[in-house]
Amino acid sequence: MAEEHKLRLGVNIDHVATVRNARGGAYPDPLRAAKIAEEAGADGITAHLREDRRHISDTDIEGLMDVLSVPLNFEMAATDEMQKIALRHKPHAVCIVPEKREERTTEGGLEVAREENRLAHFIAPLREAGSRVSIFIAADQRQIEAANRIGAEVIELHTGAYCDAFAEGLLNEAQIELDRLREMATFAHELGLEVHAGHGLTYDTVSPVAACPEVRELNIGHFLIGEAIFLGLAPAIEEMRRLMDAARAT
Ligand code: PXP
Repeated sequence: MAEEHKLRLGVNIDHVATVRNARGGAYPDPLRAAKIAEEAGADGITAHLREDRRHISDTDIEGLMDVLSVPLNFEMAATDEMQKIALRHKPHAVCIVPEKREERTTEGGLEVAREENRLAHFIAPLREAGSRVSIFIAADQRQIEAANRIGAEVIELHTGAYCDAFAEGLLNEAQIELDRLREMATFAHELGLEVHAGHGLTYDTVSPVAACPEVRELNIGHFLIGEAIFLGLAPAIEEMRRLMDAARAT
């Protein structure tokens, strides 16, 4: 497959750390999961260092920087603490996500339009340090335009609304969300932004998003780690890779 058509898979290993932290010990080891993911065809590893360290730890990030042979996509909130950590490690990519302490997962996209000035200043040093900056946003034209104005190179479109509608059997709504994702992927691509997508994707929902030609990377975590319980991590990732490639080929 030509490089410009290839869809990259970023495997998010946060929830290996969730299981480890349930007992406070050393296993299962997210670094071991990351190495298995690499061998199973992941093009990158994604990890979210949350303010409350509920899953990935600072030591995990250090370890990932040392052991990975594929790029690390470091997800973080736009706080001074996280900026310092990112500038120390200089990961290949930084994805800025909204974060609320009380949420179970990243519930919505970042509100870029209302915080343009602050975010422009926030990401500038990260870009100067050589990290590719991505902004996690809803499929909303206002947010995409704002992400472009602040100098982001990449946007990641939040696929949660589409996946939630699908999971609840609201198929019309899922289709509306999918159409919105497609339209906004095209819009962002035409502005010159690289487009990624993720959140909540499963074997049942991945194909239409993977088929979208402007989308260059999917970041998938929770479902894969759950599926690994039944299939093993490598086969779970290989199946996702197969579905993505099949959708892309059509
Ligand atoms: N992309 C971003 C920006 C995220 O914050 C997350 C969740 O941490 C994901 C992708 C992966 O979502 P999921 O774990 O639901 O596959």
